[in-house]
Amino acid sequence: MSEPKIIGILGAGRVGTAIARRALAAGYEVRVASSRPASDIALVLQFTAPGAVAADASDVIAQSDVIVLALPLSKYRSLPADQLAGKIVIDTMNYWAPTDGTLTEFEGAPSSSEVVADYLTGARLVRSFNHMGYHEMDGEARPAGDPDRRAMAVAGDDAQARSIVADIIDRMGFDPVDAGRLANARDFAIGTPVFGAPLGRHDLQAALRAPLAA
Ligand SMILES: NC(=O)c1ccc[n+]([C@@H]2O[C@H](COP(=O)([O-])OP(=O)(O)OC[C@H]3O[C@@H](n4cnc5c(N)ncnc54)[C@H](OP(=O)(O)O)[C@@H]3O)[C@@H](O)[C@H]2O)c1
Repeated sequence: MSEPKIIGILGAGRVGTAIARRALAAGYEVRVASSRPASDIALVLQFTAPGAVAADASDVIAQSDVIVLALPLSKYRSLPADQLAGKIVIDTMNYWAPTDGTLTEFEGAPSSSEVVADYLTGARLVRSFNHMGYHEMDGEARPAGDPDRRAMAVAGDDAQARSIVADIIDRMGFDPVDAGRLANARDFAIGTPVFGAPLGRHDLQAALRAPLAA
């Protein structure tokens, strides 16, 4: 695949618009959809992510090189698996029963992304952006080489997709850290020391190598 130019985001809330702003700042074209018609979110996007284009989900998926899932995990089964097959898909969604409600398939699951990947058959699923708060994504972005640059883990079974997502993260202002296979996403899930922690590249690399019980 040539270098991605258009980032599509499913979810126009806190995380979706934060990622949209970072992607726009990095020079990407950005399309955003929610579960409602594009016309319902177009006006608010002018304020929350100026420059992002509101579109219906099927158009966002068809037109974008990389798709970001920034919707509540409780809604993942509304995603069109057939349209996402073959696409690079970044899963930011966390399972948090107090807001998602109890979802039996995620209770005790090793990582929520593996459940999502099973549903999105054929998608080139990459796990990232889930361990940083939406409210930090604007203020914590830094140019490459800045000593205070925050790091983001990237896990997925498709090495090329992981590498493409890592480049996007780098352009957006964070140091990507390759966590390897999708199963390793459990190392930066909710409840791990990495989740929400302000780690730079070396500390994140060390934390991902550490046993989970540490
Ligand atoms: N909050 C954080 O700091 C944080 C950090 C990392 C990851 N996350 C994860 O990011 C996801 C979004 O969190 P958030 O805090 O941004 O939630 P949010 O502010 O409630 O936004 C969720 C967005 O998803 C849209 N949506 C709902 N169903 C959809 C569907 N079927 N297709 C497309 N869009 C849909 C909602 O709009 P409509 O209901 O109008 O469609 C809304 O725009 C969650 O899975 C969360 O675990 C959150």
